[in-house]
Amino acid sequence: MFDSGFGGLTVARALIDLLPAEHLVYLGDTGRYPYGPRPQAEVRGFARQIIEYLVHHHGVKLVIVACNTAAATGLAELQEDVDVPLIGVIEPGVRSLALATQSGRVGVIGTVGTVASGAYQDAVATLAGDLKLTSVACPGLVEFVERGETQSDEVVRLAQQLLAPLREAEVDALLLGCTHYPFLARVLSDVMGRNVVLVSSADETAFAVRRRLQGTALARPPSAGPGRHYWCSSGDVAWFQELGRTLLGPELDEVHPVTWD
Ligand code: DGL
Repeated sequence: MFDSGFGGLTVARALIDLLPAEHLVYLGDTGRYPYGPRPQAEVRGFARQIIEYLVHHHGVKLVIVACNTAAATGLAELQEDVDVPLIGVIEPGVRSLALATQSGRVGVIGTVGTVASGAYQDAVATLAGDLKLTSVACPGLVEFVERGETQSDEVVRLAQQLLAPLREAEVDALLLGCTHYPFLARVLSDVMGRNVVLVSSADETAFAVRRRLQGTALARPPSAGPGRHYWCSSGDVAWFQELGRTLLGPELDEVHPVTWD
């Protein structure tokens, strides 16, 4: 599993809880975060490199692209290069969103790259065409999470400003289309109001992994005992360990450095 940084830990938490017997390798590409403002081709190149690293260096059997910005560059295209299955966060998120709304007026927030890609508009058109979707890019939110600042007055002010179009659109369900955003759920919920359901793709992505593994030789049976976790980061490993442990929990212990040539 990989993300540009800490965001994918929301998906890692859901995966560890749902499939505790599976071994997990998590790569946070913090040395190159944020992905959101970068050109799509560059992010796709990073994703290719990381997938190759996970497959060849760690021998993983499946890769979860736990980053919307990377998944939005085109999972099908990334899949052409590798034999192991890739699972993204966009379709699972849209499925959860469709289940959560009553009015059919829904919103999605994500990075500039994700929103500009149109990946959510496409996924909604395919999976839940009757929903009325308002998409809003939220530059700046990811940086607060990466600094471990999830409740400050500044983040509240930025959220108030960024989420205004969604309040005007009177959405009743808001998809957190960036894996960092569930760490800001408290602030986002305060700004949107209690009657708006916040939807994260983390649980639904873990279910998608379970569906993909279930009944195949790829699944690691619970009788084999708890899975092992390997955490790595291309940035400051000490910071990844400190903040990562706070965000994910005690399973995040030692963090290993990764360097790109
Ligand atoms: N967690 C990544 C996502 O889901 C965020 C990105 C970033 O690095 O800007 O899009």
